[in-house]
Amino acid sequence: MNFYSWRQIMEFSNKKILITGGSAGIGKALVREFSEREVTDIAVMGRSGEKLDELEKDFPSVHFLKIQGDVSQPEDIKDAVNTVKEQWNTLDILINNAGVVSAGPLEEISDEDVISQVNINLTGLILMTKYFLPLLKQSKNGAIMNISSGLGYIAMPFYSVYAATKAAVKHFSESIRRELIHYPIHVMTVYPTATDTSMMQSAGVDPDNMDTPEEVAKASLEGLIDKRIEVILGGEKRKEDIQLNFNAPLKMDKKVENAFKSLQKRTATHRSM
Ligand SMILES: NC(=O)c1ccc[n+]([C@@H]2O[C@H](COP(=O)([O-])OP(=O)(O)OC[C@H]3O[C@@H](n4cnc5c(N)ncnc54)[C@H](OP(=O)(O)O)[C@@H]3O)[C@@H](O)[C@H]2O)c1
Repeated sequence: MNFYSWRQIMEFSNKKILITGGSAGIGKALVREFSEREVTDIAVMGRSGEKLDELEKDFPSVHFLKIQGDVSQPEDIKDAVNTVKEQWNTLDILINNAGVVSAGPLEEISDEDVISQVNINLTGLILMTKYFLPLLKQSKNGAIMNISSGLGYIAMPFYSVYAATKAAVKHFSESIRRELIHYPIHVMTVYPTATDTSMMQSAGVDPDNMDTPEEVAKASLEGLIDKRIEVILGGEKRKEDIQLNFNAPLKMDKKVENAFKSLQKRTATHRSM
């Protein structure tokens, strides 16, 4: 249990927050961070009702709005909006975190996994934002936090579909931030690198080389408090690589080529849908 400063607590005081995929991994760590800052009203949307039920046991101080639904289904999103309207009639922070991954050589990724990755990681995030905007626009101090990925900045081989969805999240966030410039809605994008969650269980990455979901969640909340437009995990080295990829993409190709064989091997089984 962490103890936070008055500023950290006041920033989120009385806020109504919705987190997609708040029932596991980074999303659940975000729930923990908010609950430690005394937030009491959190809506969580996810497909598994059991995982949503566990939240109540794990965070007894939070009044959860449990929304069983799939962000890739527009009807589920509209139902979620109706639930939030009925229960709260307001929303201050929307966190689009739900995501899935299916890696491997493109020809070997099933059509279903291609379509689902796009529908969950991107279309769902866009439709969630679209349908919750009317409520967010009524907030005096609102925010949208979109969870992209380090692969949204630097695409790696064998993550073609996933990386495409995450790069699209980056651009969507940028566009919507500029579109909402006249509203008090802060838009921030988070770029985690490998993080030790169930999504990475089949990825063959040593947990010692991953961030914890708590580290990602902490950095994200600090980013929100500081009104940053992006939070990039992975330290200074990652920021240098992003610059290299932008300024000299062919040099980055060479760097990535050195890791080709090991990436090919470890992504062959990486699937979390
Ligand atoms: N872990 C990493 O290394 C890493 C790195 C960079 C970016 N990210 C991104 O961070 C976000 C969270 O990832 P994570 O590692 O925390 O994943 P995770 O542990 O697998 O958790 C994913 C969460 O999303 C929910 N979810 C998945 N599909 C959904 C759908 N169609 N509709 C509603 N909820 C859905 C899951 O609940 P249900 O299964 O019950 O629906 C679960 O609560 C994702 O967007 C991911 O792409 C992760």
